[in-house]
Amino acid sequence: MSYVAKAPAKIILVGEHAVVYGIPAIAVPVNTMSACARARHTPGTLTLSAADIGRTIVFGEQATDEATRQLSQLLTHIIERLGISDPRGEIDVSSSIPFSSGLGSSAAISTAILRAIAGLHDRHLAVDELNDIVFETETIFHGTPSGIDNTVVVYQSPVYFMKNRSIEKLAIRDEFHFLIADSGRPASTRDAVEHVRKLYQADRRATAEIFEDIRRIVDSAKSCLQSGHACRLGRLMVENHRLLQHLQVSSARIDALVEASLAARALGAKMSGGGMGGNMIALVNGPNHGDVKTALIKAGAVQVRHFVLRQCQESL
Ligand code: MEV
Repeated sequence: MSYVAKAPAKIILVGEHAVVYGIPAIAVPVNTMSACARARHTPGTLTLSAADIGRTIVFGEQATDEATRQLSQLLTHIIERLGISDPRGEIDVSSSIPFSSGLGSSAAISTAILRAIAGLHDRHLAVDELNDIVFETETIFHGTPSGIDNTVVVYQSPVYFMKNRSIEKLAIRDEFHFLIADSGRPASTRDAVEHVRKLYQADRRATAEIFEDIRRIVDSAKSCLQSGHACRLGRLMVENHRLLQHLQVSSARIDALVEASLAARALGAKMSGGGMGGNMIALVNGPNHGDVKTALIKAGAVQVRHFVLRQCQESL
């Protein structure tokens, strides 16, 4: 018997970083990029092969480097959490989601591996339990995550997310066209979150004011998505980007991509995810997306993906 488990990428439309401090944020799954775990029964112990990074992990063996250490920790956590006494089988994991790029790669990889291991060992996991375990594994990769990445990836639905609140799935009116542009510079979400924490500790009042401005943006963005107001959503994205610049989590490259897409008449643009590199998103009118794409490539994007957000996306 073999199992195939997939999990999508994600983008954050508005609210990243502030969400760590209890402010809402909106994220949506991107099914055109995904992590995939293929599992089969074999005798002997559990092995995990990650061809993308050229590593094979044998459960219980000593890790030899940082990448192997994180994957080993992930396996150990899953096995302990599922209470599996005789872990076995072979899992091949691969992903079309760029690493360390703000697209939820770690949450998608953990979700796919967790589902595959549960399948191999005949464990049925309710989606809430799956989400809790993936959140715990996110702390291995990111330190103190808000929980937004695992939530959007596990539930595969647009979400209006608030830390420690039950999940609120978001209904989307009409279609919204986005370009997702990769700056080609991977960046650590852990470092970016840590940077904002230092700012917050240094000047709580000023940072909390920025977070409150972000709250207002997120709530207005929610109405735009529910009512199909793309132009207004675009303006809110730009406002959110300016506030993230104040938090110093954008980068010169990302800023150049944002300005280039706005000059090419995108409706809005901003960094997305942890920032300091990674990906940015531009909201475009369906027909003009070619111009914005060209502008993004000229401004240094190494890859530009078109993504259509609509209510009914195919589940993976
Ligand atoms: C990362 O995708 C989003 C951040 O807000 C961190 C988090 O919420 O855990 C930067």
